[in-house]
Amino acid sequence: MMKSTNFYNKPETTPEFLEFYERLAKMNAAPLWESLAELVPVTPKPRCMPVLWNYDEIRPFVMESGKLITAKDAERRVLILANPGLRDSTQVTDSLYAGLQLILPGEVAPTHRHTTSALRFIIEGNGAYTAVEGERTTMRPGDFILTPSWTYHDHGNPSDTPTVWMDGLDIPLVNFFNTGFAEHYPGEVQPVTRTEGDALMRYGGHLMPIEYKPSTLATPVFNYPYSRSREILDQLYRNGPLHPCHGIKMQYINPATGGYPLPAIGAFIQLLPSGFRGTAHRSTDSTVYCVVEGRGRSQIGEKTFVWKEHDIFVVPSWYSLFHEPQGDAVLFSYSDRPVQKALGIWREQAPMPT
Ligand SMILES: [Fe+2]
Repeated sequence: MMKSTNFYNKPETTPEFLEFYERLAKMNAAPLWESLAELVPVTPKPRCMPVLWNYDEIRPFVMESGKLITAKDAERRVLILANPGLRDSTQVTDSLYAGLQLILPGEVAPTHRHTTSALRFIIEGNGAYTAVEGERTTMRPGDFILTPSWTYHDHGNPSDTPTVWMDGLDIPLVNFFNTGFAEHYPGEVQPVTRTEGDALMRYGGHLMPIEYKPSTLATPVFNYPYSRSREILDQLYRNGPLHPCHGIKMQYINPATGGYPLPAIGAFIQLLPSGFRGTAHRSTDSTVYCVVEGRGRSQIGEKTFVWKEHDIFVVPSWYSLFHEPQGDAVLFSYSDRPVQKALGIWREQAPMPT
């Protein structure tokens, strides 16, 4: 990891200082010079840590939760991925949330909506659905599905296999601003009013309804099927060139704007071809990765994580990072990059200077 020095040397604390601080605290005030280095760091100091959840190890707990409580009783049957650097919280990074959600055959998770935006990255199963604003979409492994802010959504599983996906939400950001609202749909499940695949066909191809103007920040496409993403990665690999750090890396977009798929969350998918050894790089958006295919390792700061299909790992802000697959591998990732870019504070070094 990088070493940093503070630009400010804290003055020596004498008894006179301490006595002053005590009286000051009673005034609900504090001396800035005692916390300046903390408040204005020379380089980012994320509280979240590099961590990996081995899917084989966490999956039995996910399945056990299925015996403990129904999806309906839980509202959403999810195991939160709690970053050990944020032990007292329910966050995967300093600004984002992640969880593993299970829906068993025959179950329905009732319709609701909230101001937080969610992405679902499908890990296993075939035949369960997510419904958003009257349209259902079948969830298949590798699909990237969105339930944007304040859209009614529910999940159901008419298939005969459990379905598990990773949830990614902007809960910490929304709650930081104290802008959390949520409500149930009147009635347990919203009616189906649109044909499956309609949104993707209408907005996600190379056509768009004439004079279409988005009325919200939400992308009108809510399922980005893996079959299509994978085909694009494959074709671009054949076309080249490879990025020295990222391999073939693409970002999901809102096709109506070209911007990020959710206002606060950027999402990416990358192919690391066999024989690739990425160059070290870093960026300020702490990022959650989910391994879609293959196996390999990633060096995150001083730590090496060996990963395989379905594992999930976190790369904190400004930690150096490189990937090395064993055979072809595909990684999905998401971060708060749109927020950092909106504030003009996002930084990247790719590759890092040597
Ligand atoms: Fe929800």
